[in-house]
Amino acid sequence: MAIQRTFSIIKPDATQRNLTGAINAKFEAAGLRIVAQKRIKLTKEQAGVFYAVHKERPFYDELCDFMASAPIVVQVLEGEDAIAKNREVMGATNPAEAAEGTIRKEFALSIGENSVHGSDGEDTAKEEIAYFFSGLELVG
Ligand code: CMP
Repeated sequence: MAIQRTFSIIKPDATQRNLTGAINAKFEAAGLRIVAQKRIKLTKEQAGVFYAVHKERPFYDELCDFMASAPIVVQVLEGEDAIAKNREVMGATNPAEAAEGTIRKEFALSIGENSVHGSDGEDTAKEEIAYFFSGLELVG
């Protein structure tokens, strides 16, 4: 498998509980390298653009409010098969269905407050990285 980059967010529920380091330790233990990272606070509008694909879903408004409720940490993770590996480390979207040892099993509070986001494919990874990072911020 090739070296890939994927986009990751440590969400407000996790930053507010001081879990950034614990979550990063899980990524690094899985062989994912954090090649870019910054702590920012989104407006509801910025969150809405990021999650536009979910615009028609009943949880969209709640999701955008939540993502704008406190700082988040946006990241680029790099490694072999990074997109799939990150999704494996995160666990299922709903923490009740997440496997033992995954981030969401250990830390997520609910399907909405689920601690992390990760890109679901190569095209979305590229788009999501480009939404938050400039080329100058990606130094490898
Ligand atoms: P994420 O991987 O960031 O992608 C979309 C997000 O929508 C998802 O994680 C959840 O946080 C959120 N989400 C998905 N389903 C629901 C739901 N039924 N209720 C509230 N939020 C949801």
